Amino acid sequence: MKKVTKAVFPVAGMGTRFLPATKASPKEMLPIVDKPLIQYAVEEAVAAGVTDLIFITGRTKRSIEDHFDKAYELETELEARGKKDMLELVRKTVPKGVNCIYIRQSEALGLGHAVLCAAPVIGDEAFAVMLADDLLDNPGSTPVMKQMVDVYNYHRCSVLGTMNVPREDTRSYGIVSTEGEGGNVQRMTGIVEKPKPEEAPTTQAVVGRYILTPRIFDHIRALKPGAGGELQLTDAIASLLKEEAVLSYQYDGVRYDCGSKLGYLKATVELALRHPEVAEEFGAWLASRG
Ligand code: UTP
Repeated sequence: MKKVTKAVFPVAGMGTRFLPATKASPKEMLPIVDKPLIQYAVEEAVAAGVTDLIFITGRTKRSIEDHFDKAYELETELEARGKKDMLELVRKTVPKGVNCIYIRQSEALGLGHAVLCAAPVIGDEAFAVMLADDLLDNPGSTPVMKQMVDVYNYHRCSVLGTMNVPREDTRSYGIVSTEGEGGNVQRMTGIVEKPKPEEAPTTQAVVGRYILTPRIFDHIRALKPGAGGELQLTDAIASLLKEEAVLSYQYDGVRYDCGSKLGYLKATVELALRHPEVAEEFGAWLASRG
């Protein structure tokens, strides 16, 4: 049985909601306490058994490549100063036995287009897509991508990570419709991008975690470009599910939308309150503010 060993990280977006911070550096390098967003996503992928990390990059994304590369000068310096803990931290940024592959998306032509850029490396196997600005947190429990890989291994078809949102928020998400009642794994019957609350078929929203079969590439290629020449992954999934089963999986965990300022701040507070170095003092300071 072929396992999911490849994950695509589309990091070529403009990150306009975080300007000016994202003018010259990518939003995926924004830190939550002391680790950049992209590293949380990579660790989640590796915990799910992924060994090939495929980054779809664009301009201003050099720092991501540097982050996952060896830092000779820094390591030599830390070694010379005897800073063993820090050296260890720097070295384990790239987990052992993992390959990093970088593909340049020359124009930001949408998430569908970004995923299509990975086609030559993926070949004929199911793969994960992970949007690093969605931080999925469930401390002490099974990481979300691992949960999804387990669902994939059982059902052998595409799986989308979903969560329930308040009806008034549907216009911020891709919303799925499913057949059958209840249960956290449901077969999808449709998907619509950002419906008005009164038109949303359900309140099950897609988050930035997908496992897709390689058939998705044909469906992306067949899309007609939308506004600005963009190819939307949602449209390709809508087309894929007419041909083969696609599952909605309501994962166990909490999602922070770190592509938005509010989500980013919530994640920062939540993770700081658990960080061994700062939790106690930060918690006391927060409480003192009333
Ligand atoms: P977003 O819709 O969040 O867009 O993209 P964005 O440009 O990153 O951020 P805002 O909305 O302007 O603030 C969803 C994901 O798809 C990637 C982004 O990097 C993000 O992870 N993406 C989007 C690409 O890799 N290429 C694209 O052409 C578009």
